[in-house]
Amino acid sequence: MNLILLGPPGAGKGTQAKMLQNAHGFVQLSTGDMLRAAVKAGTEVGKLAKDIMDRGDLVPDEVVVSIIDERIDQADCAGGFILDGFPRNTGQAEALDALLDKKGMKLDRVIEMKVDDDALVERITGRFSCKDCGEGFHDIYKPTQKDGVCDGCGSTNLVRRSDDNEETVRSRLQTYHRETEPLLPYYQDKGILKQVDGMASMEEVARQIEAALAA
Ligand code: AP5
Repeated sequence: MNLILLGPPGAGKGTQAKMLQNAHGFVQLSTGDMLRAAVKAGTEVGKLAKDIMDRGDLVPDEVVVSIIDERIDQADCAGGFILDGFPRNTGQAEALDALLDKKGMKLDRVIEMKVDDDALVERITGRFSCKDCGEGFHDIYKPTQKDGVCDGCGSTNLVRRSDDNEETVRSRLQTYHRETEPLLPYYQDKGILKQVDGMASMEEVARQIEAALAA
């Protein structure tokens, strides 16, 4: 099954994509993670993306479309994939339709994760993750069992993203409402859009997503 998780920054897309990956083996394709890896590696894409991401704006469409186009061709995507953070505007959605068509693939579901704007700021400013194994945490909603130590691998290398400050989060939210929300009627018209309550607990959101996939 191929699906999109659509929602504002901090809606829980990454959290749920990892749970779906573990439950079904679908591959998580996060353009944000791929761009952060490019920034860290100092590639040309990374150099272009760094300032744009720190401002909370969108990286040019041709860059992210070409990243996804190449990634979907890899063998592990044949069993299904979860697009997390892509597409983010109508141009990207149309490019995705065209490239899936060319590859003889299709989208099965688009899941909208609905969350109040005020909750998002709290979620994002409290987020941190393990630099070594990638496990995600939150100061309030998912603290580590032992202070400063990753539950997953025992590392003390816990980090916060440079764009997870209140100013950039508010800018990312404006970008979402302006650029990404118009995708909801786009996918509604295709009959593949389902909604879940992103304000519920992580486990309840996962249950609602499973129900949306089975429907
Ligand atoms: P990206 O990395 O995609 O960030 P984002 O969309 O802003 O989303 P986040 O990763 O911040 O949030 P999430 O929904 O995954 O939430 P999470 O599960 O971590 O993009 C970053 C930047 O890259 C963009 O601003 C842009 O510049 C660029 N970019 C990326 N893709 C692009 C594209 N396609 N085109 C152009 N530019 C692109 O959860 C957040 C926190 O809340 C966590 O701490 C978690 O533990 C907690 N949490 C999760 N669920 C719950 C719950 N149900 N209850 C309580 N807490 C919860």
